[in-house]
Amino acid sequence: MPASRVINFGPGPSALPQSVLEKATQGLLNFNETGIGIAEISHRSKEFVAFLSNIESLIRTQLDVPSTHSILFTQGGGTGQFSAVVLNLLARHRLLYPELTADERVMDYILTGSWSEKAFQEAGRLGGARVNVALDARKYSKDGVSFDNVPPHGEYAFSPAPAFIYYCENETVDGVQFSADPSAQTSFPFARLPRERSGLLPLVGDHSSSFMSRPIPHLGEHAVIFAGAQKNLGPAGLTVLIVRHDCLVDVDAAAKLGAAPVPLSLSYKTLADSKSLYNTPSMLPIYITGLVLERMQELGGLTYFEALNKKKAEKVYAAIRSGEERGVFQGKVQDGSGSWMNVVFNVLGDGAESRFLTGAEEAGMKGLKGHRSVGGIRVSLYNAITESDTDKLVGYMKNFVSEAGAQAFGVKFSC
Ligand SMILES: Cc1ncc(COP(=O)(O)O)c(C=O)c1O
Repeated sequence: MPASRVINFGPGPSALPQSVLEKATQGLLNFNETGIGIAEISHRSKEFVAFLSNIESLIRTQLDVPSTHSILFTQGGGTGQFSAVVLNLLARHRLLYPELTADERVMDYILTGSWSEKAFQEAGRLGGARVNVALDARKYSKDGVSFDNVPPHGEYAFSPAPAFIYYCENETVDGVQFSADPSAQTSFPFARLPRERSGLLPLVGDHSSSFMSRPIPHLGEHAVIFAGAQKNLGPAGLTVLIVRHDCLVDVDAAAKLGAAPVPLSLSYKTLADSKSLYNTPSMLPIYITGLVLERMQELGGLTYFEALNKKKAEKVYAAIRSGEERGVFQGKVQDGSGSWMNVVFNVLGDGAESRFLTGAEEAGMKGLKGHRSVGGIRVSLYNAITESDTDKLVGYMKNFVSEAGAQAFGVKFSC
């Protein structure tokens, strides 16, 4: 690693593998032996079209996406999907149940953190249906106002027949994630979800900050899964969608029945019909994402990354627990709800947090400051963070705890 590069524990945009970045610089000059750089070549050239189709296969194979679902590429980030999901799924619902009033049409939101809350607000803003909070995890938090947990399965109150049920798999700001253990009460409550008359689940998941970090449980039952690329996959600018075929609906036909008009650039059917090339896509982010996915495949795909990510998170949580025993750190998330991707904790004592951050920077580790809305420390452990990067941070945390303990000891004896 060149001396100027540090370990980037930032929450996104986030670290990318060094080998990928080096390869990408070649592609900027000459994409796949075309003699034209990736930022210059036509998105309709056969080389780019083949590259995009290979990215689709790499995702399909590694995540085991069934043939009932299309994989689509778009722009606008997770935030764009907060709106697109509402527009497309309400159009679908209108086509299925044109007779319902706005009050009888319901969107169920599960609130486990700041990002699901933001999506919920956007749904309320767009209107067209009633918004039901199926769960607000803040009610089960230690202080009654923060997002610090995934509540047990019995606490969800779903509508009998919602147009869709929305959740965020990993809450990047709050460090809360559904458990990977399906028997845990903090796992996603798949068995409790209301189904449609057809037996299908109208389930929508924001997987932005955990996409491609571990397998997605019940993937084939989802209506829509979306993810911005800028955590585990590549640069910002690319959004990946996995959409079940019955959700690729004619939005203009739905509008004729009274649904809100949908901009064509947000319509899932338009994207699918044009093979994600309705308009010019984000070529460079797509290219880098392709290189990341190729590397993932070579390393063993999600089996490799799931084991690695679990191990990294366990190491950081163990370091937090030993800091807690010495009164130096305080974990922010309740047991069983801690994210593998974004681990959050406080450093206790006046000025201690800023000493922690300054010391980390001096040791070559950046991006550890918590989100401005919640403060504290946030360690983002996306796929490009290696076990040795994690070990370096854990070593620093241990030293920080010992030094803080020694200082406290010194103060006691000098009194
Ligand atoms: C879980 C989650 N959802 C949505 C977003 C919003 O993504 P974007 O900034 O790409 O719109 C983020 C951004 O960090 C996120 O972490």
